[in-house]
Amino acid sequence: MTKAVYPGTFDPVTNGHLDIIERASDIFDELTVAVTDAPDKDPYFGLKERERFLQQCTTSIGNCEVTVFQGLLVDFCEEVGAGVIVRGLRETNDFLNEYQMALMNRLQAGEIETVFLAASSAYHFVSSSLIREVATLGGEIDKLVPRVVVDAFGERLES
Ligand code: COA
Repeated sequence: MTKAVYPGTFDPVTNGHLDIIERASDIFDELTVAVTDAPDKDPYFGLKERERFLQQCTTSIGNCEVTVFQGLLVDFCEEVGAGVIVRGLRETNDFLNEYQMALMNRLQAGEIETVFLAASSAYHFVSSSLIREVATLGGEIDKLVPRVVVDAFGERLES
């Protein structure tokens, strides 16, 4: 049985992330979506809030669970018995950073493989930071993020 982890900050989850989650859950027996805080990012939504958004969007995927983690990704993978890290690749700009992380993770834990899924072309231009910028300036994000995220921006901006 192959267990995979799809890690990220997901601030917030986008339809691009959900596309990767759906496709990865078809490939692997079990998928854990693991939400964390990257040290160089100041998140807009709290960790538990980001976890809740993902949980609400993945209830129909039977072999997918969502959880938060702190510390090294490879330590978390070992803790949950996952041998694969899944990452989405949108275009060439993602590649260098993703390649560096994959090699660093392999140095830390050689038995854990990183698998890249090509992002669907409909989401190549989508990123969480662009979504935050457009949403907080009153722009249209409905087609790019799940309903729960649209509502969360609405509530946050009204308060
Ligand atoms: N569709 C849409 N957007 C996508 C996407 C896809 N398929 N794939 C990535 N993105 C976007 C995200 O929206 C995000 O955009 P932003 O930078 O504008 O916010 C960006 O790509 C990357 O986000 P994410 O996938 O959440 O990854 P991350 O780079 O924030 O997370 C971790 C990196 C969490 C995996 C990494 O920091 C980590 O492993 N941390 C744990 C500590 C550790 O082990 N560090 C050593 C790592 S070698």
